[in-house]
Amino acid sequence: MKPLVTVERHGDVAVIIIDNPPVNALSIPLRRALLAAVQAVAADHGVHAAVIACAGRTFVAGADIREFDLPPPEVTTGTVNAAIEAAGKPFVAALHGTALGGGFELALACHARIMAPDARVGLPESRIGLIPGAGGTQRAPRLAGAIAALDLVTSGRHVPADEALKLGLVDEIATDLRRVAMERARELAARGTPPRARDRAVPDIAAAEARAAFDAAVAAATRRARGALAPVAAAAAVGWAIDLPFDEGLERERLASLALRSGPQCRALRYLFHAERVAARMPPGEGHDARPWPVRACGVVGGGTMGAGIALALADAGLEVTLVEASAEAARAAESRICLVYERQVKSGRLTEEVLETRMGRIRFTTDLGALADVALVIEAVVEQLDVKLDVFRRLSAIVRRDCVLASNTSYLDINLLADVVDAPERVLGLHFFSPAHVMKLLEIVRGGRTVPEALATALALARRIGKLAVIAGVGEGFIGNRIFSRWRQQCDFLLEDGAYPQEIDAALEAHGFAMGPYAVADLAGLDIGWATRKRLAPKRDKRARDVPIADWICELGRFGQKTGAGYYRHTNGRREVDPVVTALVERASAARGIVRRAVPAAELIERVHAAMVNEAAKILGEGIAQRPSDIDVVLVHGYGYPAWRGGPMHEADGVGVAAMLRRIEAIHAGNGVGWEPAPLLREMVNAGRSFADLNG
Ligand code: COA
Repeated sequence: MKPLVTVERHGDVAVIIIDNPPVNALSIPLRRALLAAVQAVAADHGVHAAVIACAGRTFVAGADIREFDLPPPEVTTGTVNAAIEAAGKPFVAALHGTALGGGFELALACHARIMAPDARVGLPESRIGLIPGAGGTQRAPRLAGAIAALDLVTSGRHVPADEALKLGLVDEIATDLRRVAMERARELAARGTPPRARDRAVPDIAAAEARAAFDAAVAAATRRARGALAPVAAAAAVGWAIDLPFDEGLERERLASLALRSGPQCRALRYLFHAERVAARMPPGEGHDARPWPVRACGVVGGGTMGAGIALALADAGLEVTLVEASAEAARAAESRICLVYERQVKSGRLTEEVLETRMGRIRFTTDLGALADVALVIEAVVEQLDVKLDVFRRLSAIVRRDCVLASNTSYLDINLLADVVDAPERVLGLHFFSPAHVMKLLEIVRGGRTVPEALATALALARRIGKLAVIAGVGEGFIGNRIFSRWRQQCDFLLEDGAYPQEIDAALEAHGFAMGPYAVADLAGLDIGWATRKRLAPKRDKRARDVPIADWICELGRFGQKTGAGYYRHTNGRREVDPVVTALVERASAARGIVRRAVPAAELIERVHAAMVNEAAKILGEGIAQRPSDIDVVLVHGYGYPAWRGGPMHEADGVGVAAMLRRIEAIHAGNGVGWEPAPLLREMVNAGRSFADLNG
């Protein structure tokens, strides 16, 4: 076995090289080896300075997440950091790839940091329910200021090199990383006592206004956390850097980190971290090692909200895009839609004019479908009507290469019907983006009945390339996400009839951690699509099933949500207000069904919504539409605003217990009748004593 740490001598500079693939995570054995190397370098009188660098694709990307359930180790990253600071000679970190979490904390304890131009640094612990536990919250504010550090630890974002340099988190950007790091190490040694982050004061915070601005930023981060503990704890820890001596802040940070590590939120977020990676793999079994087809140029058919968003997502990732619209006017509209997004990004400083030009230059607008003759993948994003989509697929089939992947962005329709009308149906699949497509992380990849593994592998590779979280779904009305969503939305409508009001349901779910309640979301997304879907499905609907007419009544009044100024709420000047018209409709619906309205406690409301999700999810699993429960959690968290720190509905269902979930679902069935029968899989699981985690394998 290769050693985890080696030390090279370059004259009087020692280069400590960490080699722990794939991401050089700080595991227990690695920390031990690193401590030994630091101590040896410190004790060696022939060595005047040291560099810490990593082999492979990245600098240390954090502590080893797989060890978090073990008892706190003897040698922590904090122990290594203390040895570096006590060494009495300079240590310089050479950062490439992603220096994250414990890895960046290690670098912060060094006396200087040199960064590769394409590297990123960050303290993303809050994304897995933790706070940095090796001085990140104490050293980062001393280097970059309290407000910048607060943003770093509460958002968990990865900071690019130019910004990291500007913030003072690193000292220099260099292409020839190790050589420059060695040079700087030598220079620091020549200058005498090396500077340490711990010895500095947090800059620019003494003035009362600066402190008030920091306190306001903490309050904003707390609001944004929506129930997540880690960002709030991380913000408090940055406050300790301001108010306490370094060692006291360090000790408090360590204890707070340990307390979070054993808690349910950290467990849920680590579960999701793993779930996201498992979901994006090729399914096990035949064809799992299929190679993706190369994709450079793509086509998008339809330049409405979805098509434009998809083109943006592709161009952002460096792909060449040909966007085809039905008329010159529609093509111009698509172009201005895309331009507007980029211009907003320039205005907010997220994009430079130059990058805007490059990205716009990657998108070509045309009315000629023939322009797609040579592309490797086409995504159809025309209106959600089967006949229109069939027509597009038929025409595409006559134009594109035989190995061109043909994807539909449909959110409900049957992919197999689209495959039926093309030559080589084995390259047809669904790519269901979520709106806005260039922002939302989730991508449901719908595998048709005939889709070959290579086409699926191509879609998975594309998802990775454009930074989306892929989940594979089978064909079925609404695939995974929309099918579950429509069921829990129905349950919300039942709650309206039973006695709740839209604003109460929204408030309860938002208090539970959802980004937005379902009625606020409906108004934002527009009510007309749901209305059209209900009309389309009406002939298939079981007439005995409980049906709430409120949404239809609202649409019949021409209220389609925010875009028409009214929907479930009235929208004036960007504010949503309770509308007596809707209150009256809700009460009329209850009266029509002979229901005596009652106040519905928030706990009951949440329980019913959750049970509705779990029951539908279990049906989806039973039908093989989703591969595993954790895929469903990834979909609900990243596509529907389910609070990530809860892990997702399936993870939470295991916390309740499958038998107890079944009892809740039986109660829903008893109260709501046809269509709400418990999923057979749930009974099987109860009989076999299995949990959803067991089904994840
Ligand atoms: N501990 C253990 N394993 C880790 C890890 C960590 N901190 N970070 C990543 N890995 C593993 C992944 O599970 C994956 O394993 P798999 O191939 O068996 O699925 C492998 O490393 C590659 O990671 P992946 O995320 O697929 O690669 P990427 O190139 O897309 O992203 C990172 C790399 C480092 C940006 C990303 O993995 C990441 O954000 N990791 C977590 C960083 C973090 O939170 N650090 C703080 C922890 S204290």
